[in-house]
Amino acid sequence: MGNFLFRVPPVIDFGWGRRDSVGTAVAQFGSRCVIVTTERLHQNTPMIEAMQRRLHESHVLSTVYDGVKPNPTVDMMDSGAAVAQSFRADVILGVGGGSAMDAAKAVALGATNPGSTWDYRLFGERKISNRVLPVVTVGTTAGTGSHVSPVSVLTNSDLNSKFAIVDYRLSPVWAIVDPELTLSVPPHVTAATGFDVFAHAFESTLHPNASPFVNLAAERALRLVAQFLPRAVQDGNDVEARIAMAEADTLAGICITNAGTTLPHGIAMAIGGHAPRVMHGAALAAVYPAVMRFTWADAITQFSHLYQILRNSPVLADGDPEQASRAVDLVEDFLAQIGLADTVDKLGIDSDILAAIVKDTFALPDYSVNPKVPSMDDVRDILSAGSTTVG
Ligand SMILES: [Fe+2]
Repeated sequence: MGNFLFRVPPVIDFGWGRRDSVGTAVAQFGSRCVIVTTERLHQNTPMIEAMQRRLHESHVLSTVYDGVKPNPTVDMMDSGAAVAQSFRADVILGVGGGSAMDAAKAVALGATNPGSTWDYRLFGERKISNRVLPVVTVGTTAGTGSHVSPVSVLTNSDLNSKFAIVDYRLSPVWAIVDPELTLSVPPHVTAATGFDVFAHAFESTLHPNASPFVNLAAERALRLVAQFLPRAVQDGNDVEARIAMAEADTLAGICITNAGTTLPHGIAMAIGGHAPRVMHGAALAAVYPAVMRFTWADAITQFSHLYQILRNSPVLADGDPEQASRAVDLVEDFLAQIGLADTVDKLGIDSDILAAIVKDTFALPDYSVNPKVPSMDDVRDILSAGSTTVG
């Protein structure tokens, strides 16, 4: 009783303007660096060029792989790994949102290990046999928690399947968190990535591996999201809100590293596999109220705590069923406040792929660690909840 394992990320370098330290950060781990990023960041902003300058000042040779797009595919990861091999990279720098950081981890794996990165997914054919290159990250959104997690999410477009590589050797060795970079994130992306932070923190408290440390980090993350996400959505230049969300994202990432996600993420990942254009946070938001209604009675303590946090009250030890059920309404109100109140049918998902989404929800372990384990019918009901055209 009371035993737990808790991993802390090696280094978080947190602060306004900290991206300027990228050269010295990367130079600790190698002298030939592939920057893994998106075409948009590379072509439309001066950020990557500025980073290459910093790397050069620290005597690090660099090249850019900018083939990453949202919901990165296996092909993108494998192409990046080929670039890293031919450049003889000894360190990988991921610059961007969760997609770029996840891609950086997969590139670091694929650069030194045989086959396709897809082979190393959860339950995949291969195990990592060679040392993964060290990964340094500079995040540009406050979402995903990728900079402190061992997870790389990748999409196989041939199979319409979204899966994850989960291995602690993928965890970034150095995470630069510079909230100033999130100032330019538009409101709908701020809302979606910010709600992902909420989901990581809350679902970690529901996970069987939740520990006192996880719960502490989750509580702080949830309080920050409740207070500051609406402000960051409303005014992207709200510096205090951006700093708070960057902190919340980092804490929630530590939560999923040590506990994990549950049913909402299982369904949202399945949605992402079939409808990659739907933002991960928007898919989560669409299923959240229904999953909460399905789950709350089996996790009274955690749902009560969420209620207390969302009401900005201290967290009390005991659970209260009345509060637990009302937590669902509070989350619905919160989603409306940040403009993420769409049901699944409003996301533009064709009803003919719903059966496949239901099936794929059961391909990932998330559903099995939910406090109440769903059947396929339950997931079907969750997907059609509140919908006018489905079910
Ligand atoms: Fe997530």
